[in-house]
Amino acid sequence: MSNRTFTMIKPDAMKNGHAGAILDRIIKEGFRIVALKQTKLSAEKAGEFYAVHKERPFYGELVSFMSSGIIIAAILEKENAVASFRKLIGATNPAQAEEGTIRKLFATSLGENAVHGSDSDENAAIEGSFFFSGLEQF
Ligand code: TYD
Repeated sequence: MSNRTFTMIKPDAMKNGHAGAILDRIIKEGFRIVALKQTKLSAEKAGEFYAVHKERPFYGELVSFMSSGIIIAAILEKENAVASFRKLIGATNPAQAEEGTIRKLFATSLGENAVHGSDSDENAAIEGSFFFSGLEQF
């Protein structure tokens, strides 16, 4: 089991001024920041990142939303990082997310749900290297 996961603070949370609170919560929950950057995805890059959802009805909206503004991308480290982070962010739909989770506290809607968290060790590694070279990970 890997001890790393990958996250993005999505454009809604950035625009709503929640980036600081979200990063503070992540650090307080014991995740170490391995790499972090603020950036903006082009529609092409957002489409590539979410290519697994290409055939889903929400793909167009997802790509347009994820390329609509600045994001923060980060690689995080903690024991059992993927599962532990998924628990911290809560269900995909904030209406169904548990009290106290990041999505419950900061997400706007199902489509604009404040944060991304990798769903497997394999995807965590793929997604981390989508944004960061080995030289940027400490
Ligand atoms: P998914 O990978 O299923 O969720 P998660 O981010 O919790 O791993 O979906 C990716 C993103 O697509 C999700 O964060 C928000 C968006 N999405 C929708 O807009 N509508 C939907 O019905 C679903 C399932 C996801």
